[in-house]
Amino acid sequence: MTIDQSGEQQLAASWNAAAGCLTAEAGSLAGTDRLGAALADGLYPGCVLMLCGNLGSGKTRLVEAIAAGLGCPREAVSSPTFVLVQEYEGRLPLYHFDTWRLRDSDEFLELGAEELLEAEGCCCVEWGDRVEEILPPDRVNVQIDSTGADSRRFTFQATGARSRKLLEQLAAALGAG
Ligand SMILES: Nc1ncnc2c1ncn2[C@@H]1O[C@H](COP(=O)(O)OP(=O)(O)OP(=O)(O)O)[C@@H](O)[C@H]1O
Ligand SMILES: [Mg+2]
Repeated sequence: MTIDQSGEQQLAASWNAAAGCLTAEAGSLAGTDRLGAALADGLYPGCVLMLCGNLGSGKTRLVEAIAAGLGCPREAVSSPTFVLVQEYEGRLPLYHFDTWRLRDSDEFLELGAEELLEAEGCCCVEWGDRVEEILPPDRVNVQIDSTGADSRRFTFQATGARSRKLLEQLAAALGAG
């Protein structure tokens, strides 16, 4: 575990190569911003992040940080709870879904999800475990847990070769051992 507590950007990360699992502990919003920026650097066309975690854990906040890292105007990003999917333009298009209000995965498909999942952008799916069977087999599963008022644990699990490479890159960028 390496700990970078320079300034306000508190972020500690560890990489389990055997499991293809990266754990990042953000001690503050600045830590989450730094994590999102590092993650954005490695995103590739067609990549999918399945975001899981309780209400208010920080799913939308992570997407905001990723969007900023991709160069999307930050004010464009908001919780898509009511519109269900939003698109932001950055280095790659970013499709931001929130499936909380969907009845079932058929409704997800009716949103045109399949097309967007196969498009040249990156998809972030809040409550993604609710539509897991629609998501591609090679993706990054992200579990977010609150560890304090301003601190969060992000657990990233690769489920295939491409997503694993993304996490290896992220681990290197964060100096995770
Ligand atoms: N280090 C941190 N990282 C992320 N969010 C944090 C952090 N510290 C505090 N927060 C706060 O936690 C809240 C996270 O809210 P957010 O809307 O991102 O949650 P969510 O998981 O998307 O919830 P929902 O399930 O309702 O969509 C925000 O109010 C944010 O300011
Ligand atoms: Mg949200």
